[in-house]
Amino acid sequence: MILRTLAFLCLGGFLSIVPSLSYAGILEDKDCGSCHRLSVEDTKKKFSGPDLHFAGNKFQPKWLKQFLQNPGVIRPAGIITNPGFLQGPPENLPPHPSFLEKDARTLANSLTDLKISGQPLEPVIIEPLSKGQRAKIKYKFERTFSCISCHQSLNLAGKVRGGLSGPSLVNAGNRLQADWVANWLNTPEVYTAKSRMPRYKMDSATRTEFSQFLMTLKKEPASRR
Ligand code: HEC
Ligand code: HEC
Repeated sequence: MILRTLAFLCLGGFLSIVPSLSYAGILEDKDCGSCHRLSVEDTKKKFSGPDLHFAGNKFQPKWLKQFLQNPGVIRPAGIITNPGFLQGPPENLPPHPSFLEKDARTLANSLTDLKISGQPLEPVIIEPLSKGQRAKIKYKFERTFSCISCHQSLNLAGKVRGGLSGPSLVNAGNRLQADWVANWLNTPEVYTAKSRMPRYKMDSATRTEFSQFLMTLKKEPASRR
């Protein structure tokens, strides 16, 4: 009886580990690694999709789940991945794999676990912007730094405008983590060896402003299908 109880406890202990193992495994099972870098050590291959080894730093978990259920276009001109592989515009590609709610949730949870280790992100306190503050930062985004020449954004009427060579930022407020945006502007080399985005000299206050501004952009991009 004692033995049986012991065996039961051991089994119970084992089973409670299994879910966390299958978490990591589901990204492998669903073959996400054939297109996406899932680990920083994985440097050999050319990937046709964006790097996801820091997905837990970069994305809002809710957005990940929703994207996996109903993937939309983020890079309207296609994607140039490290090291320099141009894939062409999304309408020429097969649709991104999509999933039912349960799998989407498990996949999103696994992605949320993928973080850059040993790189504490500079935290950003995001306070709501007044109309006047937002207008000032919008001016910097469009004129002073010309971010809009490469990134789609929203005008006052909520219409999409802007360049196509960078990822769309129309839904950045639902998609990206505020801390990550500021850190990307500060140290892009942590996330990508060679970026096509110009490296800006800006102080921490300006990085926070851009992050605050991007968090106000909320609009679902066009669905891929
Ligand atoms: C056939 C290649 C391919 C496979 C397989 C694939 N993806 Fe993707 N994925 C892409 C491409 C290409 C994009 C970029 C789409 C865009 O920017 O419009 C993308 C985008 C994404 C994004 C958004 C990332 C970002 O930076 O915007 C996430 C999250 C994602 N994929 C997760 C997954 C997961 C999880 C799996 C496995 C279930 C998976 N993908 C399987 C090619 C693939
Ligand atoms: C010359 C084009 C260009 C300009 C100008 C530009 N970017 Fe980018 N940006 C890119 C590209 C391309 C990427 C994708 C990363 C890469 O390819 O290295 C990117 C990535 C980003 C990302 C991450 C988005 C994602 O989903 O991965 C943010 C946030 C961003 N840029 C904000 C800005 C801001 C803020 C400015 C202005 C201060 C700006 N960008 C100016 C080209 C540009």
